[in-house]
Amino acid sequence: MSQISRPLSLVEKLKQETVQDYINRFLWNKSNTAPFVVELDPTTACNLACHDCISANLLNQGGIDNDRLLKLAEEFAQHGVRAVVLIGGGEPMAHPKFGALVESLYRSGIKVGVTTNGTLLNRYMEQCATMTSWLRVSVDAGSEEVFAEFRPHASGKSQFNLVIDNMREMAQKRTGLLGYSFLLLSKYRADGTLESTNAVDIEKAANLAKDIGCDYFEVKPAFDMMHFLQQQDHAVVDTVNEHLKRIHALASDNFKIIAPFTLEEALKGVGTQIKPYNRCLTAELRTVITPSGAYVCPYHRGNLNMRIGDIAKVSLEELWKGDRRSVVMNRVDPARHCTFHCIRHESNLLLERMAAGEVVEPINDFDLFI
Ligand SMILES: C[S@@+](CC[C@H](N)C(=O)[O-])C[C@H]1O[C@@H](n2cnc3c(N)ncnc32)[C@H](O)[C@@H]1O
Ligand code: SF4
Repeated sequence: MSQISRPLSLVEKLKQETVQDYINRFLWNKSNTAPFVVELDPTTACNLACHDCISANLLNQGGIDNDRLLKLAEEFAQHGVRAVVLIGGGEPMAHPKFGALVESLYRSGIKVGVTTNGTLLNRYMEQCATMTSWLRVSVDAGSEEVFAEFRPHASGKSQFNLVIDNMREMAQKRTGLLGYSFLLLSKYRADGTLESTNAVDIEKAANLAKDIGCDYFEVKPAFDMMHFLQQQDHAVVDTVNEHLKRIHALASDNFKIIAPFTLEEALKGVGTQIKPYNRCLTAELRTVITPSGAYVCPYHRGNLNMRIGDIAKVSLEELWKGDRRSVVMNRVDPARHCTFHCIRHESNLLLERMAAGEVVEPINDFDLFI
């Protein structure tokens, strides 16, 4: 296969047998005591200061207490959480209990996915290589210089070689999938003209991803702080398209090149996304737990109006069944509160059709990270 793939459709994931079973048993009568999938930020601490980081104003404000984090992992197992994505917020591996957390989740049969900056991967190579279903490193560069410009470290020294060495070792030892993520980033001068873009490194990065043994290379568009797709300069669009054309031939059965449909929309300059529904059924299946509280979804991370509770104060079950969550979920109106680009839009449309009686033919489980 020599073409650019879409990430596996989130809608297809909802059709999996186990997910359909969960939806039919729990979603409509809300009788579950935990979500199906949790996105967990163990800490807001981060050792990089990446350009345009979506979580920039949430960083370095502490982490979940060590004991609480490990107890939470037990509660996930007890209440049937099926998959946990360790992300941030900050850098998940900056939490001192990251290794113990992965071990606990894995041993209780929960699927573990990790999104990381890769700088601390060497500390947890064993757990990451043998206990994660997937691990995706945000690199956003294919060279030391571009990495240093867009993903700077406090020391001023580029962490690029360390990250790539870590990924190379991970590629050799891992049992799950390894991804190389490339977020499209550009800097503009005060007069609006383009100063620099990491798009110039796409081809180098894709070659490197294949060379070190990654399973896939993903190019993604960046969002602004309000979660609208960032508008791209013409020169950036041309560079991205040129590079995407050149890397087509790298794709094979063992190495996928992925570009979400949002990349196309960002390159075309598509803005708002109209939502013809007034509740978020996806947020009944998955949630985000962070040191500052739990939120309806990642887009509303840090938004106090969308905070459904705080696991520092209550158990997972109390959080999920609590009054606070029910008040917030009744208030959330995607048509008004989520006019930006939400990757769950198609999932919500399918869930609404199911709520209206559409019967879905279940397909075999292939990836429980819905
Ligand atoms: C905020 S990072 C935190 C986890 C980890 N420290 C890392 O670097 O991957 C989580 C994800 O958000 C993505 N991200 C960061 N800033 C973004 C932006 N402005 N728009 C879209 N995605 C962004 C990153 O590419 C990464 O996949
Ligand atoms: S529709 Fe709104 S609440 Fe639901 S996942 Fe999307 S952004 Fe979050």
